[in-house]
Amino acid sequence: MVTQRIGVIMNGVTGRMGLNQHLVRSIVAIRRQGGVPLPNGDRLVPDPILVGRNEATLRDIAGAHGIERVSTDLDACLANPADAVYFDATLTSRRVDHVRRALSAGKHVYCEKPLAPTTVDALDLAHRARRRGVKHGVVQDKLFLPGIRKLKRLVDGGFFGRILSVRGEFGYWVFEGTDDDRPPQRPSWNYRKEDGGGIILDMFAHWRYLLDHTFGEVRAVQCTGATHIPERVDEGGRRYAATADDAAYATFLLAGIDGDIVAQFNSSWAVRVYRDDLLQIQVDGIRGSAVCGLHRCFVQPLVATPKPFFDPERPQPMVFDEQWQEMPDIDPVRNGYRAGWELFLRHVVEDAPFPSPFRVGAKSIQLAEACHQSNRERRWVDLAVLEI
Ligand SMILES: NC(=O)c1ccc[n+]([C@@H]2O[C@H](COP(=O)([O-])OP(=O)(O)OC[C@H]3O[C@@H](n4cnc5c(N)ncnc54)[C@H](OP(=O)(O)O)[C@@H]3O)[C@@H](O)[C@H]2O)c1
Repeated sequence: MVTQRIGVIMNGVTGRMGLNQHLVRSIVAIRRQGGVPLPNGDRLVPDPILVGRNEATLRDIAGAHGIERVSTDLDACLANPADAVYFDATLTSRRVDHVRRALSAGKHVYCEKPLAPTTVDALDLAHRARRRGVKHGVVQDKLFLPGIRKLKRLVDGGFFGRILSVRGEFGYWVFEGTDDDRPPQRPSWNYRKEDGGGIILDMFAHWRYLLDHTFGEVRAVQCTGATHIPERVDEGGRRYAATADDAAYATFLLAGIDGDIVAQFNSSWAVRVYRDDLLQIQVDGIRGSAVCGLHRCFVQPLVATPKPFFDPERPQPMVFDEQWQEMPDIDPVRNGYRAGWELFLRHVVEDAPFPSPFRVGAKSIQLAEACHQSNRERRWVDLAVLEI
């Protein structure tokens, strides 16, 4: 067995996503298990250099995870030919600049979603990457969730017959920061439009690839955005105006194999959870229905569908939740961020297929922009096929 090294410049590992999911649960976990196994028996071991703005924080993180290299000089890192891959999990508003510099330096680039604040910027990055002849990709972690995989298996197996509708309910309460003992769970830039915040740009990036992949391409959208909580408190205890949307109520038209499917998604950081999970999706088809969360999935075929009735004089005697059957687990749970890394590293080294290059990432931003337009103009917006 031969061990192959691959140098990875990681930017944004002092942040929530960069540290917990990409560094600790992906790159460090892969290194601890001896690398990514390749078909020829070799192991591909990522060798990260942590880059950021605060050297002391970077050294603390590196020390805690057995990593030797840190830097506060991105351009010097990009100039080092020994590191072939650039990864970006910095603020959404910083990504385009970082990725352009990495592409100019000839690096393969993997990054968090959304790829850019606008579709034009995202397509520009896709063009540049293609011209430079490097590999490129955007994170699509939600596709690896067990609940979504079970749902996809039901769709592909024809369980639903003709699918009629999809209903997604996403969200949880994000504390405003006004109580000392209830700090906000998300960074304050998420609530400032000028810093790349907003639930539409953040979450619809996920909804686009999830819907496209599971049911069929999103063709049109109608969306109402809202800023339910207009003022919040930031990391430094200062009050600030929340200028970005913190909730969005959208209806999509999807190109299903048996015709159009209507999908409604409510997304909110100002809602309290009374469901089994933070995301719950219900699919109703002619021959059966399913309800899935991030992990579990329940089904009810037509033959087992009850006939409920409405009685204004007595409480409902049927316990509807008990009338569904839970799907068994299909395969071992994989961390979706780590799975994405393994695919991307193999894409770079042995040209293995990778499902979400930059042009696929651009589609997510196209959907977010269409939602903003729909909200502004109070109408349906069609999504054009993106050409690059
Ligand atoms: N796939 C998913 O499920 C998922 C979930 C959440 C977020 N995300 C995406 O991940 C990205 C980061 O989100 P997060 O929640 O992790 O944010 P975060 O906790 O605020 O972290 C932001 C990171 O960006 C760095 N940064 C901030 N300002 C910068 C600047 N001016 N120049 C260079 N670096 C700067 C920060 O470094 P310092 O420590 O130096 O400030 C930190 O490392 C966003 O694009 C977001 O959309 C994806």
